[in-house]
Amino acid sequence: MDTASAPSVETVLNRIRSGVRNEHPYLVGAPPQADVKLNQNESPYDLPAELKAELVDTLHDTAFNRYPAEQPAALAEALAKHNHVAPEQVLVGNGSNELTYLFGLAFIEPGTPVVLPAPMFSLYEKVARLYHADLTTIEPRADLHFDIDALVEAVTQHNAAMTVITTPNNPTGLAVPPADLERVLKATPGVVVIDEAYVEFNDYPPATELLDAYPNLIILRTLSKAFGLAGLRLGYLMAHEDMVTELMKARLPFMVDRFSEAVGRAVLNHPNLLTQRVEQMQESCASLTQALQERDDLTVVPSRANFVLFTPHTTSSDALQDALMEQGILIRNMGGYPSLQGYLRVCAGTPGENKAFLDALDAVL
Ligand SMILES: Cc1ncc(COP(=O)(O)O)c(C=O)c1O
Repeated sequence: MDTASAPSVETVLNRIRSGVRNEHPYLVGAPPQADVKLNQNESPYDLPAELKAELVDTLHDTAFNRYPAEQPAALAEALAKHNHVAPEQVLVGNGSNELTYLFGLAFIEPGTPVVLPAPMFSLYEKVARLYHADLTTIEPRADLHFDIDALVEAVTQHNAAMTVITTPNNPTGLAVPPADLERVLKATPGVVVIDEAYVEFNDYPPATELLDAYPNLIILRTLSKAFGLAGLRLGYLMAHEDMVTELMKARLPFMVDRFSEAVGRAVLNHPNLLTQRVEQMQESCASLTQALQERDDLTVVPSRANFVLFTPHTTSSDALQDALMEQGILIRNMGGYPSLQGYLRVCAGTPGENKAFLDALDAVL
């Protein structure tokens, strides 16, 4: 085989768009196995064994050789019912992260103005970079809440095609009151994505109440947190039905497989299970927050989600994280965010997991 005239690997790689080449892969950066895994804001509770047994029957009846529908209509309908919106307002994805990429595809051309408040779930900034947005970042207030005044000013000044508000926010756990959401919706000429991944843990009214009044609102949700389905990959958006129709044009078909759809439907069919799990996780987060607040050596951010952000005063956050990891306890280091240097994030686990974390923390502190 004469390959003398073939381009070198580097020449071929140089054909990859700079937006991609300049990126880093998204890595959680932790071993997959740990005794106490509190680093990804997951539910500590898997589905009950009886429900899983029912789903095994579903698995048997699922035709693996047949494509699923382009969109999982029955699941979209169940999600619409759950949220009191029309099925035409729902678009289901392979996890909500996957839909975030759809926003890049649909709204961002090179130089498109995008405004993002910080600190925010890092994927949004990555999508803005990948699509060469003209990105403006709004630094938080001293108490780490989003600076809504500055955000309102920036979306107007930059004629923002897109802004995003994560509420409750990851990684702070802080939430934006509905009146402030409305200020941003009124001021933004483009779309406002409100990512409500942790909405079930928060007692503010959901953004669905604003859908009728604001055609520029897109709400993003996930079944990875309160519903405990992070391993299956189900997320969805809700928006004006005409917006959904347009987004469908850019959408990859078949993104939700038959089994995930069946599991999503089964879980939505057990509303008491969701209520019970959310109560357990809220209790866990409240007691974890209180326990951390009782430690003099820590500053703790009060959370409206299922995780807590904190910073140690006398120990370095890196050393603390490493010491916990040696004991099989995974938490997340937030030092990569300019406004969160020295901060760590711990997810609320089972009572036993929280105790293991707090005991190990005390041993280090
Ligand atoms: C704000 C926010 N949005 C979305 C996601 C990801 O959701 P999914 O598992 O549906 O992709 C997360 C996960 O941590 C998150 O914190």
